[in-house]
Amino acid sequence: MSRRSDILDEMGLSPRWTLRGRLAQQQAKAPAEAAVPPVPPAPAVPAEPGATAIMQMDWATLAQTVSGCTACTLAATRKCTVFGVGDRKASWLFVGEGPGAEEDERGEPFVGQAGRLLDNMLAALQMRRGEDVYVANIVKCRPPGNRVPAAAEVAACEPYLHRQIQLLQPKVIVALGKTAAVTLLGKEQSIASMRGQVFRYRDTPLMVTYHPAYLLRTLPDKIKAWEDLCFIRERVAEWRAGATSDVQPPG
Ligand code: URA
Ligand code: SF4
Repeated sequence: MSRRSDILDEMGLSPRWTLRGRLAQQQAKAPAEAAVPPVPPAPAVPAEPGATAIMQMDWATLAQTVSGCTACTLAATRKCTVFGVGDRKASWLFVGEGPGAEEDERGEPFVGQAGRLLDNMLAALQMRRGEDVYVANIVKCRPPGNRVPAAAEVAACEPYLHRQIQLLQPKVIVALGKTAAVTLLGKEQSIASMRGQVFRYRDTPLMVTYHPAYLLRTLPDKIKAWEDLCFIRERVAEWRAGATSDVQPPG
């Protein structure tokens, strides 16, 4: 697929998206969910493994540890932990904020409406989750009502993502939206000001773009996200070819 109009179609810029209808449906569900009384926190359990232990874990141990994790208050309200999914040798790691309602039900990241847009964006790049792509979130459990995760929750969960990154050794991390970007870079900046630059998370190149849920609300910025992904793809191709321009901002 190469024609611009096809690409924009694939990304959902054409009118076949019925965003208002779907969003309205989702919002209509929210009060019912909110009415469910919160599950009380689990009684005291053995201490969670510390960051040092997590840094030694293999994939299986890490996934199992996350599935039973109660290191922050989100454990009390989640249905499923959402570890991450995809190719464990992927060059591309996409990092979102945290699971939403559908992800919490299914235990897989980005399977709701935002996830469908992410999949369409990947398809427009002739990529798919699971094929050289891994998808994860900053926090592995759903923040109630999809609120932004609190600093303590982000801090409690960070060692898991850090270990995933160590095990994956991706060529690039793509931070989707502000929570992922600010968390991974440790500084407060807007996505608009960070686009088109190559940062680093520890040793791994990191670039940012808009979160697909934001793009669903702000359709004109989809073209910017497309430009970002094309820019990132060019950098990955350069790094594959052994070029060393990874710390240069675009010209
Ligand atoms: N939004 C996110 O940030 N992550 C998901 O997995 C789903 C929606
Ligand atoms: Fe553990 Fe992360 Fe879930 Fe908190 S969000 S309970 S730290 S897995």
